[in-house]
Amino acid sequence: MSPIEEVILNKKTNVNPIWIMRQAGRYLPEFRRIRKANPDFIKLCLNEKLSTEITLQPLIRFDLDAAIIFSDILILPYGLNQKVEFKKGVGPLLGELNLENILKLNESDFVEKVHSVYKLINSVKNSKIIKNKSIIGFVGAPWTLMVYMINRESPKLGLKKNFFENEDLIHKTLKIIEKFLKVHIKCQIENGAQIIQIFDSWAGLLAEKNLKDYIYEPTLKLVEYVKSFNVPVICFPRNIKNYKDYCNIVNPSVICIDYNIDPKEISKDIRIPVQGGMDPKILLTDKENLKKETKKYLDIFNDHPYIFNLGHGVLPETNPQMMDYLVKMVKDY
Ligand code: CP3
Repeated sequence: MSPIEEVILNKKTNVNPIWIMRQAGRYLPEFRRIRKANPDFIKLCLNEKLSTEITLQPLIRFDLDAAIIFSDILILPYGLNQKVEFKKGVGPLLGELNLENILKLNESDFVEKVHSVYKLINSVKNSKIIKNKSIIGFVGAPWTLMVYMINRESPKLGLKKNFFENEDLIHKTLKIIEKFLKVHIKCQIENGAQIIQIFDSWAGLLAEKNLKDYIYEPTLKLVEYVKSFNVPVICFPRNIKNYKDYCNIVNPSVICIDYNIDPKEISKDIRIPVQGGMDPKILLTDKENLKKETKKYLDIFNDHPYIFNLGHGVLPETNPQMMDYLVKMVKDY
């Protein structure tokens, strides 16, 4: 059993497992080299050999306790034939959402289009370096995926005023997302994913009155689905205002917290295992400060089952030496 699973299943508090969101990515020169030669990001995700290599890159450098598969949450709309592009400096841009065509798709059409993701998981599973480490598969939460599929670009500046106007569109899109996310989760698990993380990056955009319909209910269905395979599920409802309510209603195996929430409040209010929290910008400062902030999280969660991670993805400007320092520190603490 990997240290991460020990914490999740046995609620152990005497180990400090660590992995980092976006650990495989742009802060690593070895990733940038591959990325430069592969301008089409989705194609790169679906290149089984290269995506396996990228998944394992951070594990070669650092003593992390998990591999998160190199893929993207937007593989889902891609698999449903909605065009997905990544523009430098802009982020993801999606093509027209054609529900009529999507409704004609069946599960095997989707699986055929994204099957390389499952092959990647299988090949990660067969690599030697993965011994005693967890393989984390992931999906976007229904709400966050719906935002991208309808908004067709990042809602960095907030949702468009008329976002909720077309209820029929929202309802149908959520139904489709749920159906195919289940397929995507099942195939990841069948091919070797031992934990599933659900990324709800835009959870913080919603008003209280909309949480039930767009976050709690759709996410709960997926959490129950993952658990039906006896696989733990980590939820990351970034910037949600009330983590306590979220945990009580959605009941994930682990709650991943962002860096805007006070960790002391979480350790007081929440009984399930916790992951994450530290601001990724701390890695851009100096070792002294990194040590102080890391200690803060480890001390607060000293008597709580805790998986060290950041409160969002590691930033591209991060010096890999700082990551090295962080991982060693957490392991030796
Ligand atoms: O964690 C890992 O190392 C695994 C890989 C991973 C990627 N995306 C690779 C990626 C994971 C877990 C994701 C999740 C993801 N993708 C989320 C949820 C987490 C979060 O950051 O909030 C979201 C919202 C996306 C959608 C997405 N993909 C955006 C908004 C962008 C562009 C901006 C950015 O963050 O880079 C991407 C591109 C992307 N996904 C890159 C990588 C390595 C960068 C691609 C590049 O090199 O240009």
